[in-house]
Amino acid sequence: MCGIVGYIGNKEAYPIIIKGLKRLEYRGYDSAGVALLSNDSLNVYKKQGKVANLEAYSGDLDTSGTSGIGHTRWATHGAPNDTNAHPHYSESESIAVIHNGIIENYDAIRKQLLSKGYTFRSDTDTEVLCYLIEDIQKNAGTKLGESVRLALQQVVGAYALVVISKKEPNKLIAARKSSPLVVGIGDEGDFYLASDATPIVEYTRQVVYLDDEEIAVIKRGEELKIYGIDDIQKTPYVQELELHLEALEKGGYDHFMLKEIHEQPRSIEDCFRGRLNAEKGRVSLGGIREYEQKLINANRVIMIACGTSWHACLVGEYLFEDLARINVEVEYASEFRYRNPIIGENDIVIAVSQSGETADTLAALELAKSRGATILGICNVVGSSISRITDAGSYTHAGPEIGVASTKAFTAQVTVLTLMALSLANQKGTLSSTKFRGMLSELEAIPAKVKKVLESNQQIEYISGEYQGASNALYLGRGSSFPVALEGALKLKEISYIHAEGYPAAEMKHGPIALIDEEMPVFVVATKGMSYEKVVSNIQEVKARKGKIIAIVTEGDEQVREIADHVIEIPETDEHLVPLLATIPFQLLSYRIAVMRGCNVDQPRNLAKSVTVE
Ligand code: AGP
Ligand code: GLU
Repeated sequence: MCGIVGYIGNKEAYPIIIKGLKRLEYRGYDSAGVALLSNDSLNVYKKQGKVANLEAYSGDLDTSGTSGIGHTRWATHGAPNDTNAHPHYSESESIAVIHNGIIENYDAIRKQLLSKGYTFRSDTDTEVLCYLIEDIQKNAGTKLGESVRLALQQVVGAYALVVISKKEPNKLIAARKSSPLVVGIGDEGDFYLASDATPIVEYTRQVVYLDDEEIAVIKRGEELKIYGIDDIQKTPYVQELELHLEALEKGGYDHFMLKEIHEQPRSIEDCFRGRLNAEKGRVSLGGIREYEQKLINANRVIMIACGTSWHACLVGEYLFEDLARINVEVEYASEFRYRNPIIGENDIVIAVSQSGETADTLAALELAKSRGATILGICNVVGSSISRITDAGSYTHAGPEIGVASTKAFTAQVTVLTLMALSLANQKGTLSSTKFRGMLSELEAIPAKVKKVLESNQQIEYISGEYQGASNALYLGRGSSFPVALEGALKLKEISYIHAEGYPAAEMKHGPIALIDEEMPVFVVATKGMSYEKVVSNIQEVKARKGKIIAIVTEGDEQVREIADHVIEIPETDEHLVPLLATIPFQLLSYRIAVMRGCNVDQPRNLAKSVTVE
């Protein structure tokens, strides 16, 4: 939900921080700011808008200093403006804080501090925390780390924060609860801090992921020290980063989103690696192997997620139920966590999350765990919070996904869910050996077929030009292509700002058909399969009301071609695997339309890549 960066060592902090903020800008870009310790002054520069605005503003100012913190914001409390931008000073301006998360009881703390005569500069919850730290330090005479610890004992909410003080210039204090924070250990006694590893990897591969309610006391040139909020010291668990720098660059594409769309043949193959061998008729997901029997015997499996990941779960539901005959319920994590769900130790909950940091998904998982359920995870970011609290899980291995609109993560999630469903079906005997091996071969052929769909660019360009001026759009699909319709609509909405809705194709008759007129583009997945003829009828219903049909069809289809306004062909494949192919044209269409409309494709307005606040 926002990006945090910090540095302390013997290099100039400002360039490191600015570069790091640009790597994290996908996490939020309402405003950006830095706090730099230079000699005995603590300089805070912050501006509404993107990091480039901050750079332009601070270019002529004193940006020297070998210790500093930086923040790129996604506002939760207080409008996106200069005053509410982070870092926030304490009242005396000797301390500054950056924060990702929400201080839920900030109003009570604010009132308590107002009654002591403090006056605030901003409307944010974060500034209240900064004032509280200084108030404790003044009254208890404690050092910075202890002041932070005592302040956090009063806090209810989520935080990843870094505190800097001009009174203790050789130190940074970091703390984490629910929002992610990584400490990079440099090889010159210097330290790097960030919300995720992407700003750190070019400097060091030695990292420590802070756990909930841990406080890191980082002193220039000394060993890293970590304490619990109970003040008990812990041994830092240093890990080796697997990330590679080139994965963080655009690689010649205009946008990260386009790069990531085109990475899908590789990312799906990476998802297979070590897990799928069609020739030997083998599927194995090592990460969940010890839970497969439990999955097979579970009276139900609950899948929880948000956004695109929730759409992947819907595909998973079709696959698990049809192939493995396992009862699945798919839940919005944000709803599940608050409706007092009936859940117990016979239940298995699978959380699906690209970032592994989505606050609602994490909280829903923690609720399930507290009620005795087995919790599994399907995440893309190694070492993420969800991957660390689950009993077991499978990584999607899609590589870093920088574009805010999820693309390769979705197909990787569907791939893992397909592998799971096939593995369970094979063990349960709900699939004949012939059908099982046939599907493995089809699955193994998917990357090449994705590559072929990616080449249908000319058609995409033309259709995008036809409909880039639309105000509304409908997406239709049946069976496991219904979640593809939902996903296509979400892609268009979130990057081109065109209002779009996804429906089961048959649902058109129950209301949405009233929307159809010659201004309404209707995107339909009309591939060969069990409900093909039914979808053709739905297309006829739309055409009868002058709607425009853009149909995704199986290669060689002539019937739909005759009635649709446009068709985009995808290679034939097993009906269960169509989501992996049909979603690609929708990704490309939303991308092209957004570019034609001059939208910021990688960082759409109001959005952030990882929603680590509620
Ligand atoms: C999808 O394009 C959006 N960026 C958003 O819906 C996203 O899928 C959702 O926030 C869930 O994120 P997660 O997969 O990291 O949990
Ligand atoms: N709650 C803080 C604010 O609104 C931090 C938001 C965030 O995590 O980006 O400034």
